[in-house]
Amino acid sequence: MDTFYCRECGNVKRGWKVPDDNSVIRLFASEIGLVDAAGQPTAVGNALVLDFYGRLLSAAPYLAQKFPADLLDANASLNGRGAKQRDKLLAAVLAVMTMFNPGDDQRMSRLTQTLEAMALRHAQHRATIEEYGAVVSVLLSVLQDFARTSNVPESIWESAYEPALRRALTFASGRMMAAESLGLAEDSEPITEVIELPQQQQPEQQQSDEQPVAAARHEQG
Ligand code: HEM
Repeated sequence: MDTFYCRECGNVKRGWKVPDDNSVIRLFASEIGLVDAAGQPTAVGNALVLDFYGRLLSAAPYLAQKFPADLLDANASLNGRGAKQRDKLLAAVLAVMTMFNPGDDQRMSRLTQTLEAMALRHAQHRATIEEYGAVVSVLLSVLQDFARTSNVPESIWESAYEPALRRALTFASGRMMAAESLGLAEDSEPITEVIELPQQQQPEQQQSDEQPVAAARHEQG
C-alpha cells in the first residue's frame, strides 16, 4: 500500500490529499504490522490487546473483577477465558478498523449491526459513558505507542492517523452505548403512571395575578 507522506522527511507529499478515513486506518494497520501484506491479522494484534487490557485495568483496577482472572496472562492456555476474551476484542477492533468507512453506507450499516449485537451481548456489564471514554483513550494511547515503535512520524500520527482512528473508535463506542441504552430500556418496566403536570397559566391570568402583588408591595412601601 502506498503512503501519502514522504517516508524520509515525514511530510505529506506535495499535492497529495490525505486519503479518506478508511484508507488512512487500513494504511495505519499495515504500518504498525497489525495486518500483513494480504490484510491478514498478525501476532502484533495479540501484543496490542494485551497491552490495552494491562493499561485499562491499571487505570481502572475495579474493572478486573468483571474479566477472566487470566486476562493479562500471556502464557496462559490459548483456550483459557482470558485469551479468548483478548481474541474477541482484537476481532472487534479489527472489524472497526476495516469497516469504518463514512463514504460507504453499506459498510457503515453492517458495522452498526455488528456493534449493536456486541453491545447487547455485554449490556449486563452496564458499562458507563466514562468507561467507554476510557476504552477509547487507552486504545488510542496504545496505538500511538505502536506507531512510535514502527517509526511513524509523530506529525503524521497527529494530523492523519489519530483523528481518523479517534473518529472510528468514537463512532463504535457511541453506537454501542446507544444500543445498550435502548436494549436496557426495552427490558425496563414501561411507565404506566400518569403524571399530572401543573396547568399552564394564561398570559392574561398571569398579569391579573401580578397586579395585586405589585399593589400590595406599593402599599407596604
Ligand atoms: C468500544 C468499546 C468496546 C468494545 C469494542 C468491546 C468489545 C467487547 C467484546 C468483543 C467482548 C466479547 C464479548 C462478545 O462480543 O460477545 C467484550 C466483553 C466484555 N466487555 Fe467490552 N467492549 C467495549 C467496551 C467495554 C467497556 C467500556 C466495558 C466496561 C465495563 C466492557 C466490559 C466488558 C466485559 C466485562 C466483557 C465480558 C468479559 C467476560 O465475558 O469475561 N467493555 N467486549
